[in-house]
Amino acid sequence: MAHGDLHLDSRVIHGGQSPEPGTGAVMPPIFTSSTFIQDSPGVHKGFEYSRSHNATRFAAERLLASIEGSRLTDAEDRTNGGFCFASGLAAIGTALELLDCGDSILCMDDVYGGTNRLLNRVRKRSQGLKVEFVDMTDLGRLEAAIKAHAPKMIWVETPTNPTLKLVDLAAVAKLGKACGAITVCDNTFATPLLQRPLELGIDLVMHSTTKYLGGHSDTVGGALVTGDKALAEKLRFMQNAIGSVMGPFDAYLTLRGVKTLAVRMRQHCSSAARIAAWLEKHPKVERVTYPGLASHPQHALAARQMRLDGQPAGGGMITAYLKGGIDESRRFLENVHIFALAESLGGVESLIEHPAIMTHASVPAEQRKVLGISDSLVRLSVGIEHVDDLIADLEHGLAKA
Ligand SMILES: Cc1ncc(COP(=O)(O)O)c(C=O)c1O
Repeated sequence: MAHGDLHLDSRVIHGGQSPEPGTGAVMPPIFTSSTFIQDSPGVHKGFEYSRSHNATRFAAERLLASIEGSRLTDAEDRTNGGFCFASGLAAIGTALELLDCGDSILCMDDVYGGTNRLLNRVRKRSQGLKVEFVDMTDLGRLEAAIKAHAPKMIWVETPTNPTLKLVDLAAVAKLGKACGAITVCDNTFATPLLQRPLELGIDLVMHSTTKYLGGHSDTVGGALVTGDKALAEKLRFMQNAIGSVMGPFDAYLTLRGVKTLAVRMRQHCSSAARIAAWLEKHPKVERVTYPGLASHPQHALAARQMRLDGQPAGGGMITAYLKGGIDESRRFLENVHIFALAESLGGVESLIEHPAIMTHASVPAEQRKVLGISDSLVRLSVGIEHVDDLIADLEHGLAKA
């Protein structure tokens, strides 16, 4: 059976991999060599220089291509349309190089603060990109923006960081095709276990592998995956030409992390669903946003687009608005102990943070206000500790808020 036909639970372990031919090693070795011997000038084993060719990175790239559902063959693209980078932002930066100077890009209005910063404060200036942030939860607005700006790229994050808004990927893919724009989905929050952008017609999937794919808060990396041969060809060139590649150690940690993605995501989802329901009833909590709650404004879309084992799955991220303001938020965040007060997300350990001060401080204050990233908003990344311990920890923090 071809790897591409296996269940995702099997693909996370075997996808794109085969035992190393020299020794039979089951895990791909960490190839640290920066260069490779040639028998005669230009005659080699397919490996010349490690920025361009690294077998550990290739294994990680093929694995991510497999789990995101790229069907590109080895003959069509050496790593089946998967590309790994030094960080999520390096992946985003390389994807933006698909655009020409002065092109127009439409970006979901709520995105990771670093994505906003790269577009607003770097690429507008250095690449002359015309950037419009659009609330794509309203497809009418997206259609109007497409008419007004003739975009070459549409950048979607769903669920969004931090307000967990959802975007209808199949609809965006259709609109993108009709206007000839490359559609990109940052799939970091949902992971390919829950959400299948390529199968919904999106051209390019992006990941911060630092998060759920790595899964253990011990590696920084990024990835792009496409099932489109022409796009893969351009990305292969760009990855090498720009050079912000993932190193072999990080590629190894990503390979190792992804092996447990399926079991981890099940636990993240079930614990987060319980915690979200509990928080929603807590007297010190004003409002909870979680795609798996019936109260989520796009619950129906969530149930359709984010699924695990054939059932709706809300993911591992929750945002909550506490009653009160910055003082209450601070006291709460200072008084939780299992939830580590730290940026990032998607690890086995639970993390909690204050987006307005931490991850999204780089989003202009005006835009934060429009998006609802207020002083009372906290973001939880629910880990895989025992859920009762997590609830007890939150209860302790809320009692002090
Ligand atoms: C949704 C999302 N996309 C992209 C990034 C950027 O990834 P990295 O920090 O690996 O550069 C992040 C980081 O938090 C993120 O949350």
